[in-house]
Amino acid sequence: MHTPTTIGLGTWKSELGKVREAVRFAIEECSYRHIDCAAIYQNEAEIGEAFLTVFNGDKVKREDVFVTSKLWNDNHKPSRVEVACKQTLKDLQLDYLDLYLMHWGMSFPQDFSSGTATSAIFGQASVRDTWEAMKELVKNCLVKNIGVANFTGPMLFDLLTYAKVRPLMNQIELHPYLQQTDLVAFCLTEQIGVTAYSPLGSPGNMTAKGLPSLLDDETIVSIAKELSKTPAQVLLRWAVERDTVPIPKSVNPKRIVENITIDAFRLAEEHKKKISSLDRNLRFVNPIGWWKLPYFG
Ligand code: A2P
Repeated sequence: MHTPTTIGLGTWKSELGKVREAVRFAIEECSYRHIDCAAIYQNEAEIGEAFLTVFNGDKVKREDVFVTSKLWNDNHKPSRVEVACKQTLKDLQLDYLDLYLMHWGMSFPQDFSSGTATSAIFGQASVRDTWEAMKELVKNCLVKNIGVANFTGPMLFDLLTYAKVRPLMNQIELHPYLQQTDLVAFCLTEQIGVTAYSPLGSPGNMTAKGLPSLLDDETIVSIAKELSKTPAQVLLRWAVERDTVPIPKSVNPKRIVENITIDAFRLAEEHKKKISSLDRNLRFVNPIGWWKLPYFG
């Protein structure tokens, strides 16, 4: 399996005590074939228990599921990259990952968990150094592909000047309030797949509190009513129809089913036009809020 084309189950903020069953249920009972993980989500060990159960069973084989994880910012130094990847593999109880992403294009000192000192990012590893080390993971068969997350156009332009192994995916925040149409088009033209995180507008994200709710947006709600679908299904259908791969997070069985049940309908041109007009360059996930770093300018 090379590029995931189907909806993935997101696991950012998937609670311990719930994520094991959510992942098992999604794979075994709802045909999810793409699971998105990350070391920083601090739930990979529990997800690993689900993988162990699933892949030891006879319903689904390891090679039928596309598993992604991500290298956290404090492990960018080349000497740390393989160590971090092996820890993720151990936690997930897997022999290989289908895709390993550089979670952000910035490097923190080891053990830097929070703080606001911009100086903390200086003197660490360059994206190039980290990428070269990630490339070795492919060579050593620990991962099948490497990619990036949260990369902007200029970051990709630079990466593509030296990347001997090209990024399979760029995972970025995407939803009708942050459509990033030019970046998506650039990635797709360059044959870099695009994963859409926070496709529902990040409703469970505390830092997004006080921002408008996409699931309650009147345009989305009215299209959903017209099609007899839920707002989440409209948002996910929209993501798929623009050739991106959404990874909605849920630990709720009803919503896990709802989010993957989007094949039996299409959005009309008129719906897409209305959704296009909702773009307002609104980010729910932004390092300026966490570390006071102007990552997106
Ligand atoms: P829960 O895990 O309780 O289902 P995003 O992927 O955009 O960050 O959204 C994830 C958030 O949206 C989580 O809080 C999740 O909560 C909730 N969620 C997931 N699927 C749906 C859905 N179909 N309808 C409403 N909320 C949903």
